[in-house]
Amino acid sequence: METIKGKTAFVTGAASGVGLGIAKALGKAGANIVIADVRQKAIDEALPWFAENNIPATGVVVDVTSEEAYAKAADEAQRVFGNIHILCNNAGVEAPMVPVWQNTAKDVDFIVGVNIKGVLNGIRTIVPRMLAHGEPSHIVSTASQSGISVVPGAALYCMTKGGVISLMETLACDLRGTNIGASVYAPGPVKGNLSVSSKEVRPADLSDPASAAPAAPPPPPPPPAPTTGDPHTDGFVAPPAFDFDSLTMPAEIAGERVVRGIERGDLYIFTHSEFKEGAKKRAEAQLRGYPDEAPNPTFMQLFSFLVNNPIYDGQTQVPAFPKK
Ligand SMILES: NC(=O)c1ccc[n+]([C@@H]2O[C@H](COP(=O)([O-])OP(=O)(O)OC[C@H]3O[C@@H](n4cnc5c(N)ncnc54)[C@H](O)[C@@H]3O)[C@@H](O)[C@H]2O)c1
Repeated sequence: METIKGKTAFVTGAASGVGLGIAKALGKAGANIVIADVRQKAIDEALPWFAENNIPATGVVVDVTSEEAYAKAADEAQRVFGNIHILCNNAGVEAPMVPVWQNTAKDVDFIVGVNIKGVLNGIRTIVPRMLAHGEPSHIVSTASQSGISVVPGAALYCMTKGGVISLMETLACDLRGTNIGASVYAPGPVKGNLSVSSKEVRPADLSDPASAAPAAPPPPPPPPAPTTGDPHTDGFVAPPAFDFDSLTMPAEIAGERVVRGIERGDLYIFTHSEFKEGAKKRAEAQLRGYPDEAPNPTFMQLFSFLVNNPIYDGQTQVPAFPKK
């Protein structure tokens, strides 16, 4: 999408953290903003910043797990601003961080409901509207770096975020030939309130004693000395009293990367180059997993839509983010 100015952006989970950062950055780039969130109080706290900065914004309460509620929220957004051009499927939750066999069935329903079904509801509700109005549009869904560099004890979270990455790659295929772009946003650590809000928004019918247990406090505590000197064996090693916050990206700076990704038409929007080495290691391990055999040329030709997917060709090198 060449310009964001004058477009309308519907951002879910936008009353806090990562989503609020995206909403602010899109607003500064000239978009009308719809703060779509399940928490009215948080919406009320978020909106004044937009008024103070003369950015047209409105709030709409929606639980993204409900397709019916989603359609009503989209109607309300259109009533205020007209056509929706940018959809950010950002609302997300976490489940208790335990080895996955200890997560409950209700943990699964809760996290899959918001992190997967919520994103699908956004796509199913808004894409047909974008196709109908025909104006240049773009969809960004928030996955996580954890969808690529998995985190021990967070299988449900990593699974849903990995799912969002595959979903957006497939959506990019399905949208080829339209003027709707698709990106997956996979941030590293960004200032947000996920562990607090996840408890607040968890519906009563999906709560259970196991999920009421406090989630493991991020970030992980330093391991005891002595260490082996190998970071992969030692795990996380930090000096005592280390300021973890200093490594967490402000949400608005992260949101500016989303704006740039939309403008550039990036398939992948990442925040932290520090994860590149691990992503490379994972990709190389996967390549080593293929049998060392010559491919069948007929198979390659007939299934070229699978083995040579053009969506990857459009991703050019993202330049360094300008320092402020
Ligand atoms: N903060 C990070 O470091 C980080 C890193 C990677 C990915 N993410 C992802 O970014 C997104 C936002 O996380 P955050 O850290 O900003 O958390 P946050 O708590 O600050 O924001 C999440 C927002 O989503 C809303 N929400 C939750 N369930 C909802 C529902 N059913 N319907 C509508 N709104 C709902 C909450 O009310 C909240 O305002 C999530 O998808 C998360 O997985 C965050």
